[in-house]
Amino acid sequence: MAETMYGLKRTHRCAEVTTANIGETVTLMGWTAKRRNLGGMIFVDLRDRSGIMQVVFDENDIGAEGFAKAGTIRSEYVLAVRGVVEKRGGAVNEKLATGTMEVRATELRILSEAQTPPFPIEENSQTREDLRLRYRYLDLRRPDIQRNLMLKSRVATLSRNFMAEQGFLEIETPMLAKSTPEGARDYLVPSRIYPGSFFALPQSPQIFKQLLMVSGYDRYFQIARCFRDEDLRADRQPEFTQMDMELSFVDIDDVIEVNEALLAHLWKEILGIELKTPFRRMTWKEAMERFGSDKPDLRFGMELHNVTETVKDCGFGVFSQAAADGGSVVGINVKGQAAMPRKKIDQLTEFVKGYGLKGLAYLSVQEDGTYKSSFAKFMTPEELKALADAMEAEPGDLLLFVADKDKLALETMGALRCELAKRLELIDKSKFEFLWVVEFPQFEWSEEEQRFTAMHHPFTMPMEEDLQYLDTDLGKVRAKAYDIVLNGCEIGGGSVRIHQDDVQEKMFECLGFTKEQAHEQFSFLLDAFKYGVPPHAGLAYGLDRLCMLMLGLDSIRDVIAFPKVKDSSCLMTEAPSPVAQAQLDELGISIVKRDEPETTA
Ligand code: AMO
Ligand code: AMP
Repeated sequence: MAETMYGLKRTHRCAEVTTANIGETVTLMGWTAKRRNLGGMIFVDLRDRSGIMQVVFDENDIGAEGFAKAGTIRSEYVLAVRGVVEKRGGAVNEKLATGTMEVRATELRILSEAQTPPFPIEENSQTREDLRLRYRYLDLRRPDIQRNLMLKSRVATLSRNFMAEQGFLEIETPMLAKSTPEGARDYLVPSRIYPGSFFALPQSPQIFKQLLMVSGYDRYFQIARCFRDEDLRADRQPEFTQMDMELSFVDIDDVIEVNEALLAHLWKEILGIELKTPFRRMTWKEAMERFGSDKPDLRFGMELHNVTETVKDCGFGVFSQAAADGGSVVGINVKGQAAMPRKKIDQLTEFVKGYGLKGLAYLSVQEDGTYKSSFAKFMTPEELKALADAMEAEPGDLLLFVADKDKLALETMGALRCELAKRLELIDKSKFEFLWVVEFPQFEWSEEEQRFTAMHHPFTMPMEEDLQYLDTDLGKVRAKAYDIVLNGCEIGGGSVRIHQDDVQEKMFECLGFTKEQAHEQFSFLLDAFKYGVPPHAGLAYGLDRLCMLMLGLDSIRDVIAFPKVKDSSCLMTEAPSPVAQAQLDELGISIVKRDEPETTA
């Protein structure tokens, strides 16, 4: 039967005991990670969030009754143990911080018994993720995931303190809000008082933080939960956390300066790494041309080459036709991979086909300078040499090409570049390569909606020199927007905002809002802008992503205590779930039955 801890007080966490405590009596409380019965002695690895301490039960120390009780201990039992810290008698465990010590128990209480867990609670679990997520409270006991969440907590605390020192005020903004146009689908909350009306959970605090600037708060910071009903990926959750900020009377460089200092502070305090600032900056255009991505991974080379000019008149129809159609031929030089087997090249071909490309052309330069290629027969030796030269090819290199519309060709090669780096293990995992991507296009053409949409959001200020194109050529307008990219992942983004009401009205017009629609959705913002607005700018990090990358993890779920799975449901609580008819009635909601539930999986 479970006992109480009455009269006992914990003195240390398990792994907070040090060699300085040898000879002292301590009281530890925690879970049974492991238990071994060696005849006259019982050994228990006692675990709490700090780590593990070995406890030894010896009848001579604890008496017959206590020893018998120790004999009933099973995995995950919660224990309170009083005993003396000693140098370890048996083999030292070098893997543990406490591996040279043990606690000789003089008193034991079993605070809680435990059923056998459905999977072992251990580091680097091999258990299927869906099972772990169903019993997330057990999964969260694993030391590696505890370390992840402890790091995230430190990031939040350090950031708060740092931002406070920089003059930022922490201010909360509503969760029950109005739709904010960050581009994803909203989660809606029905109103009881106004049946048929809905709140939207915030996709970000964007509009509120801008209003706080209008109200004169000057520098705002918040660790804010955001909600976006969009397809999930390894680095995306339907609810996630932003570290969000907004600053008044600033321009791009001011925002960048504060954020480089913040990131440098976090890396130094948490990882002991001195980041070199300022970080590199690259325009969106350069990033797309050189890396085929607006979030290039700079931990490896293999940059793209646009060889359209070189091959536009060549005899290989796939290339010359793409050039004639106004598209591009884009290549990458995979150094030293001339001997890549055909089968592997076929796999890469399948990879690019997944992006909608029709094929992948290759040319490998043999050690004797001759070529092996899928298209050499269509080209003259001079054309081949010009192409190899344009690709800076040397004997032993493998050249891969795609030909298609610019955007598709570049993005596909950008993805292939990352895929190859992964397959060929070209990525130095110990590196942190930060990059600011700047001068994003203001607008993006949406094929689906057949109109221009805002690439960042509708409050982003166009570059002053491009304001002239708002009336003539929206595709040409660049934005005062910036993303902070780390190792090929967008960890944050922001922009300088429009602070003039006429430019803001114009922006809504460019995005296809009628005056009425703009006013219906954003009247409070447009009105506020009539009462004195400071120039302002801001940025938000995906806190979960930031922590994921700091820890070198591949999944955002490993830094979120209770994440959702791919269909945006929670395996543990089984949310979302139906509600009582009475609740629906109160909200004036009736459910239309559909044959197939629509999922985003
Ligand atoms: P943005 O939409 O770029 O900007 O979001 C900022 C950062 O939030 C993270 N992020 C996500 N993380 C996990 N799951 C998601 N579904 C998800 N969506 C976004 C990304 C991203 O860089 N209001 C603006 C910021 C501003 O302009 O100040 C905004 O929300 O790391
Ligand atoms: P085909 O003319 O379709 O027989 O293709 C000849 C070669 O060009 C094959 O190796 C194809 O994989 C390759 N290829 C076809 N389309 C493209 C494309 N859009 N970009 C690059 N290579 C291609």
